[in-house]
Amino acid sequence: MIRDPESFTILLDTISRFVRDTLIPREPEVVDTDEIPGDILAQMRAMGLFGLTIPEEYGGLGFTTEEEVLASMALCYASPVFRSRIGTNTGIGSQGIVIDGSPEQKQKYLPRLAAGEITGSFALTEPAAGSDAGSLRTTARRDGDHYILSGSKRYITNAPEANVFTVMARTNLQSKDARGVSAFIVDRDSPGLSVGPYDVKMGQRGSHTADVIFDNVKVPAANLIGGQEGMGFKTAMKVLDKARLNIAAVCVGVAERLLDEALNYAKQRQQFGKPIAEFQLIQAMLADSKAEVYAGRSMVLEAARKKDSGPNITLEASCAKLFCAEMVGRVADRAVQIHGGAGYMQVSAVERLYRDVRLFRLYEGTSQIQQLVIAKHILR
Ligand code: CAA
Repeated sequence: MIRDPESFTILLDTISRFVRDTLIPREPEVVDTDEIPGDILAQMRAMGLFGLTIPEEYGGLGFTTEEEVLASMALCYASPVFRSRIGTNTGIGSQGIVIDGSPEQKQKYLPRLAAGEITGSFALTEPAAGSDAGSLRTTARRDGDHYILSGSKRYITNAPEANVFTVMARTNLQSKDARGVSAFIVDRDSPGLSVGPYDVKMGQRGSHTADVIFDNVKVPAANLIGGQEGMGFKTAMKVLDKARLNIAAVCVGVAERLLDEALNYAKQRQQFGKPIAEFQLIQAMLADSKAEVYAGRSMVLEAARKKDSGPNITLEASCAKLFCAEMVGRVADRAVQIHGGAGYMQVSAVERLYRDVRLFRLYEGTSQIQQLVIAKHILR
């Protein structure tokens, strides 16, 4: 659902102009420095990008799901690391509070997350709990009006930048599965909380992940999301439903960029006396990519509209995440192929994006986890 088509079109145009005039030209700098420049962060704050999905009553833009996915597609025509920097505030690092938080929790955290004054982060994955997220071992032991958190989290996006974490931890110490898990809001400056060095990744330079370690961290009981123990895994899954659809949109945006890079190269690169775009084997790769990008875009929009009309979209989000993450991998591969040797060189955008998009088949649930979720729903 698009609430006000006229003003939304203006906003999308503004994002596209920002992408074209500011973000794309700065991509090499982000790769060189492994940081998003401060002036770009300031512009993203001023444009309200950190608060796209946070309700208007808490200072955000209150985007519907359809508006959110369209904005992500537009933004991810530039390197996906720019979106990643705002993505924990608009997605996994705020949505636990938006969906299940108490009015007090919302009031305390959402306005600053929306303004981009603070950065949120989502701490679910652990060294021994990746796909089997329900088996996590970080514990939260009740102690009067506090909980004491102990354990460690792994590959946590934006952990080095984060001021506040949504942390899934086990409150029922007897349990070993999802039912004993609760979700907490934990401030970065809590004594005993530390963040490890940046992980060295295959791609996505400029977007950081790191370990987060909890050494007897004292968290007020008021920071238990939903005010009830044992609901944390469900909160995490609800957050991931929304996030997976958004990652599918991210994949579509990057795939559109890759296709344009391939098209532009094919039109200007001459071999055998003419542009390689005139050869049918090149055209086949371009056509396959176009058809797949269109399929991905259609799928994401259909799922987003369904979500805005009310129903649960766990199934559709997993379908979209599975298809789009795999699709952008194929589109990236063809874009490199069309570039030939030039596509293997680190100066080319397609070489970098080829490595960047590999992550989409892994995080927020691997392709295999999406297949399991889909199968479970259709076999019910
Ligand atoms: N919405 C609401 N509730 C849900 C749900 C959903 N989408 N999915 C499951 N639940 C509920 C179930 O109904 C069940 O509730 P009951 O106990 O009342 O029946 C409970 O949660 C447990 O569900 P399951 O029995 O299905 O749980 P499971 O242990 O078998 O796990 C799984 C299911 C799909 C494999 C899940 O563990 C999973 O999604 N794993 C992948 C983890 C993942 O995506 N990690 C990504 C980390 S975050 C990240 O990558 C972000 C980043 O850094 C950028």
